[in-house]
Amino acid sequence: MKNLLSPIKIGSIELRNRVIMAPLTRSRSNREGIPNDLMRQYYEQRASAGLIISEATNISPMGVGYLNTPGIWTQEQIEGWKPITQAVHNKNGRIYLQLWHTGRSSHPDFHGGEFTVSASAINSGGQVNTYDGLKDKEPPRTLDISEIEDTIDDYVKAAKNAIEAGFDGVEIHGANGYLIDQFICSGSNVRNDKYGGSIENRCRFGLEVVAAISKAIGSDRTAIRLSPSGTFNGMFDETPVETFSYMIDKLNEYNLAYLHIMEPYAPPGKTYIPQDSYLQDREVTQYFRNIYKGNLMTNSGFNIDEANDYISNGIADMVAFGKLMIANPDLVERIENNANLNDWDVKTFYSGGEKGYIDYSFLND
Ligand SMILES: Cc1cc2nc3c(=O)[nH]c(=O)nc-3n(C[C@H](O)[C@H](O)[C@H](O)COP(=O)(O)O)c2cc1C
Repeated sequence: MKNLLSPIKIGSIELRNRVIMAPLTRSRSNREGIPNDLMRQYYEQRASAGLIISEATNISPMGVGYLNTPGIWTQEQIEGWKPITQAVHNKNGRIYLQLWHTGRSSHPDFHGGEFTVSASAINSGGQVNTYDGLKDKEPPRTLDISEIEDTIDDYVKAAKNAIEAGFDGVEIHGANGYLIDQFICSGSNVRNDKYGGSIENRCRFGLEVVAAISKAIGSDRTAIRLSPSGTFNGMFDETPVETFSYMIDKLNEYNLAYLHIMEPYAPPGKTYIPQDSYLQDREVTQYFRNIYKGNLMTNSGFNIDEANDYISNGIADMVAFGKLMIANPDLVERIENNANLNDWDVKTFYSGGEKGYIDYSFLND
């Protein structure tokens, strides 16, 4: 029977196991978004995961919305990533880059005072941590059609850059209320052109990004993450089950490396507020398993036993771990040895520096 330690093929590569490192923003880069040696150490420590998905990485200057997050649009950024992918590969690990455009979940301060951009000019509410402290979000500006096309080009360039930087593939961040999700969900998209209105139109932008990246680097190196029951970043959809059933059924046409689904999730310090029309808790993966034909990765709040159950019952093919991977660089070895797991320290998630980043203990310390 398959479990977390069974190998799996995604696209044209084989993963040693199904213990996946979830994408985790850690804010250890710099204002220019250039990856550094501290990040190299962090990822290298976690190379025994079947696959590392990098922290969300900005595809363009307009995509930036969080402090000290890395980018993948300049040559310097590409060069900064190279030692990281090399270090992971030297340990026979695999690493994908998560492609990010924050859209309205940013602040004009990140763009020299220019408006943020989105599907429609609807403020999500809430606050953003800027270099000058917490500030209220402001209404975004609506992207016009030619800007949407330019943004798809930015995704493609970023994906090609990721391959140049040595990544094994890319995961498109379509979850958690960032730009692609802002197009998908009716609460943030009231456009009346071909990118808004019907479910088909709202999913068009995300699907065009998938198609363009698949064409540029191959669908076997392309994946996407979605949060069909997500409410983080002020997200809402009137018919979430129908919306995401359409989106996920369409993804079947691309033969992607995998689809990454998030179950209901709230970031540290926030509470998930369930909506009646949303699939609840553990219903989510099971529901979309019946629709999606390819490799399915799931995530959010899994412990090891639950993850093994999901894999052995065929509900998911892989499970991504976030906080457990932060606190246990050798999570795979700990699973192999049925060993105790370290606890994570929320205070150091985004604090910068080595503490809570590269100083979690290994089993043999
Ligand atoms: C510190 C932190 C940073 C995160 N950064 C990202 C990110 O960059 N991209 C993303 O898709 N999800 C991000 N998430 C969500 C995680 O990938 C994951 O979905 C979440 O932690 C739930 O999984 P877990 O219960 O295994 O931790 C982040 C979560 C945490 C705690």
